[in-house]
Amino acid sequence: MSEVKSGWGKVLPVTIIVTAAVTIGISALLVNIVERKEEGKHTFFRVVEVTDDTDDPAVWGKNFPLQYDAYKRTVDMERTRYGGSEAMPHLPSQADPRSVVTQSKIDEDPRLKTMWAGYAFGVDFREERGHAYMLIDQRNTRRVTEFKQPGTCLNCHASTYVAMKKLGNGDLFAGFEKINMMPYGEATKNVKHPVSCIDCHEPQTMQLRVTRPGFLEGIRNLKASQGVANYDVNTMASAQEMRSYVCGQCHVEYYFKGDQKRLTYPWHKGLKVENITAYYDEVQHKDWVHRDTGAPVLKAQHPEFEMWSQGVHARSGVACADCHMPYKREGGQKISDHHVRSPLNNINRACQGCHHFSEQEMKGRVEEIQNRFFQTRNVAMDALVALIADIRAAREKGATDAQLTPAWGFQRKAQFYLDFVEAENSTGFHAPGESLRVLADSLDFSRKGQLALRDLR
Ligand code: HEC
Ligand code: HEC
Ligand code: HEC
Ligand code: HEC
Ligand code: HEC
Repeated sequence: MSEVKSGWGKVLPVTIIVTAAVTIGISALLVNIVERKEEGKHTFFRVVEVTDDTDDPAVWGKNFPLQYDAYKRTVDMERTRYGGSEAMPHLPSQADPRSVVTQSKIDEDPRLKTMWAGYAFGVDFREERGHAYMLIDQRNTRRVTEFKQPGTCLNCHASTYVAMKKLGNGDLFAGFEKINMMPYGEATKNVKHPVSCIDCHEPQTMQLRVTRPGFLEGIRNLKASQGVANYDVNTMASAQEMRSYVCGQCHVEYYFKGDQKRLTYPWHKGLKVENITAYYDEVQHKDWVHRDTGAPVLKAQHPEFEMWSQGVHARSGVACADCHMPYKREGGQKISDHHVRSPLNNINRACQGCHHFSEQEMKGRVEEIQNRFFQTRNVAMDALVALIADIRAAREKGATDAQLTPAWGFQRKAQFYLDFVEAENSTGFHAPGESLRVLADSLDFSRKGQLALRDLR
């Protein structure tokens, strides 16, 4: 403040000082606002270079520590009434080194063993848990250690993008075809991490992208059935659609096609259970022959994407990420919560941005939907188990395959419909009305199957 001392009069210097102070203050505020706005636009300071070959999430994490910290929290295990997961102690052994697993679904409900008699799922099937476990849980399930599985299994259980490109000498699809045909034990040596940043993000722009050949082909077939030719999800989908499509890479029904064991999403006729059944019937696919009845049957797995598509949230444009990766504020930043988990453990951020009811009320609404679903599911399950017992009895009394064929057809459908909503992991929430409709159809198939046997007496 040399000016003050050098005799500029008394009023002026004070004015200058005040003006300067205010100016500095305003500038600081402006800088702060600009910085916050910039942060809001997800501009970021790159600490390390990330390329299209960097599959280690820890490297990406140096540039995006907040997303990475949340991503690592998918190790957490927290139970909800029907979902989440429960930590069960497990004695590590040579065959299975895990010290914590989740509860066994087939022990919780032994009727599942009857439904899946003669199939690997009848031996080991557990509650799912967070993304951090996807690779270790697959490597150690008895479905892998006691049954021969193809490399195809890895598509949804590891960061496969870079591994596939390497195996295909730069060609993702060539690598996909190669890994599918390898025995699991060999294929799994090519991967190191669970689903990673590179599987959902383009490294330069951080834009969302689909990297899974199974989804790229599946959605193209689906769109073709709706009259849209040559659909390319990465250039033609909206930003909001991508917030569900990145999850639809894995949370879908699938099968391994032919000797190539090609991972295939059966969406050629649509996403509804009857569309998928019609496709499987047309290509004459069966997952296995039921041990007790001899029926050629199907196994459904986690059709979250398909069922969500039938619900009011999808219809209203609400994406998987809206509920499972809701925005949160950290510092001045609005970021997506990469701790992917049950939204019931995060109701405030997951639901209350749109629904202005208390947390307790939102939880109550979900549980009411789930209780109704679970009750109906149990009724449908009893009916299926009764049908299986009746076919088995008819077979033991000497009914021929030709005589059993009509009842087998009904078992195949009753079982697949029930399994479709059972394997769907929201306990009916993603599409409440559709879930109950599918269970009602399943019940009807079980009933008709029993009627078909009546004629044999
Ligand atoms: C409107 C919010 C909402 C949307 C949108 C949504 N979900 Fe969910 N999701 C839920 C709720 C609520 C549950 C039940 C959680 C529970 O029972 O603990 C659930 C359960 C799940 C589960 C089982 C979680 C667990 O902890 O057991 C998975 C997996 C899942 N959703 C995946 C998806 C996928 C994939 C999509 C998009 C295709 C999607 N969800 C869209 C709200 C949503
Ligand atoms: C199209 C993607 C996809 C493919 C292919 C796939 N999985 Fe999964 N898997 C998932 C998803 C999604 C979950 C979590 C939801 C669930 O458990 O229903 C899961 C869960 C699991 C789990 C944990 C829960 C359980 O079932 O005990 C195991 C183990 C597993 N898969 C093994 C396998 C094996 C073995 C194969 C190959 C035969 C395979 N997966 C192929 C997507 C896939
Ligand atoms: C590369 C395949 C893959 C992608 C992509 C993927 N998931 Fe998963 N997800 C899985 C598998 C496999 C599991 C089960 C892991 C286990 O049980 O070990 C799982 C588990 C979950 C769970 C259960 C968590 C818990 O604590 O019980 C939720 C919820 C979930 N995923 C939602 C999503 C959402 C939302 C997206 C998209 C933002 C998504 N997933 C993308 C494969 C995937
Ligand atoms: C299963 C898919 C998936 C994986 C894996 C994933 N992300 Fe994301 N990420 C998303 C989604 C969905 C968004 C929301 C994007 C949008 O709305 O445009 C997002 C947004 C972001 C953003 C933009 C800012 C924000 O938070 O919304 C950054 C940065 C980011 N992710 C970093 C990472 C990093 C780092 C990793 C690995 C540690 C990672 N992501 C793993 C799905 C994923
Ligand atoms: C992005 C906005 C948005 C988010 C997030 C959202 N919802 Fe919704 N929800 C809607 C819209 C839109 C409807 C359709 C009814 C309407 O238009 O008001 C709806 C309907 C519902 C319904 C009644 C419809 C049905 O399925 O029968 C329930 C229950 C519900 N939401 C629960 C939840 C829960 C629980 C969460 C959090 C896990 C959630 N919602 C998150 C927008 C949202």
